[in-house]
Amino acid sequence: MTPPPPLLEVRDLQIALGTPAGPVVLVDGLELTVQAGQIVGLVGESGCGKSLTAMALLGLHQAPLQISAGSILLNGRELVGASEAQLRRVRGKEVAMIFQDPGQALNPVLTIETQMVEAIEAHRRISRKAARALALEALVQVGIAAPAERLRAYPHQLSGGMRQRVAIAIALLNAPQLVIADEPTTALDVTIQAQILHQVQTLCRTANSALLWITHDLSVVAALADQVCVMYAGRVVESGPVGAVLGAPRHPYTAALLAASGAARDAEGHWHDIPGTPPDAAQRPSGCAFHPRCAYVRPQCREAAPAANGGIHVVRCFYPLGQEQAYDR
Ligand SMILES: Nc1ncnc2c1ncn2[C@@H]1O[C@H](COP(=O)(O)OP(=O)(O)OP(=O)(O)O)[C@@H](O)[C@H]1O
Ligand SMILES: [Mg+2]
Repeated sequence: MTPPPPLLEVRDLQIALGTPAGPVVLVDGLELTVQAGQIVGLVGESGCGKSLTAMALLGLHQAPLQISAGSILLNGRELVGASEAQLRRVRGKEVAMIFQDPGQALNPVLTIETQMVEAIEAHRRISRKAARALALEALVQVGIAAPAERLRAYPHQLSGGMRQRVAIAIALLNAPQLVIADEPTTALDVTIQAQILHQVQTLCRTANSALLWITHDLSVVAALADQVCVMYAGRVVESGPVGAVLGAPRHPYTAALLAASGAARDAEGHWHDIPGTPPDAAQRPSGCAFHPRCAYVRPQCREAAPAANGGIHVVRCFYPLGQEQAYDR
């Protein structure tokens, strides 16, 4: 018997921005696999293409952005080139998205109740009363006090943290097989972010929903995910099981990111930043895009882009770090 296909299988995905001077490739050769029930962390610095990737997975990217190559298979079905009607059936039901900015998911002129009931009715035949009961239950699950009162509220009457919780409740309403969560980076304080993260993780584990968690912080992934994908300048540079990748990073960028994350402050509590700034995706350096910031750069790295190597623990580097080498600047 052949095993069932992975829940999500992204192969060689390329996302480009159409410009008068020709297409600019923003995400290139992206590979990503999510198995049913799995938690996968997608990590990288600001501007590396995380949100763009998430939007494209659900066909939510807008012209002049376009998927210029590759394949997105959901339960073995191709989503690249699917019609808007087909994508609408997938969104919310099979795959739900929690946006970086909860404002993107909530309609400012409708009450929370109307929005939640509509989200349920979009995919199920159900009475208004039953839908309202489900909405109430979903608010309780994400830790919202006085849920009946919140149902009557408009988004602007809620705090930023509460809006994000409502957006999460809506995302989980139809027990999707996959939740894509773009970590709220602004507006919420760190404690609330941590609480929300913990709740989403618990809810997904309970419902056996897979979770693709997008973040810039590797220490978050260490505590949460089964698998991790590290992105740099529009490409995945390292991926694999969290224990393997974070325990013995093979790409100098992953090692540097790990040293820069909260999990790896040095004995004096100093925070290590990675020297240099990440490149604009539109002006990617030649060869390996990380070479201008890499402590181990060699001539070949400036000339050619390394291919992805490895079966389970995959790395895109000509000179991957060995397990015995510590990252030392
Ligand atoms: N609609 C758009 N039009 C033009 N360029 C875009 C558009 N959306 C994103 N980009 C570019 O694509 C690149 C990746 O952006 P993206 O928003 O995916 O980054 P990100 O990894 O989510 O960053 P952050 O951590 O700050 O959210 C950036 O260089 C950005 O300027
Ligand atoms: Mg983003």
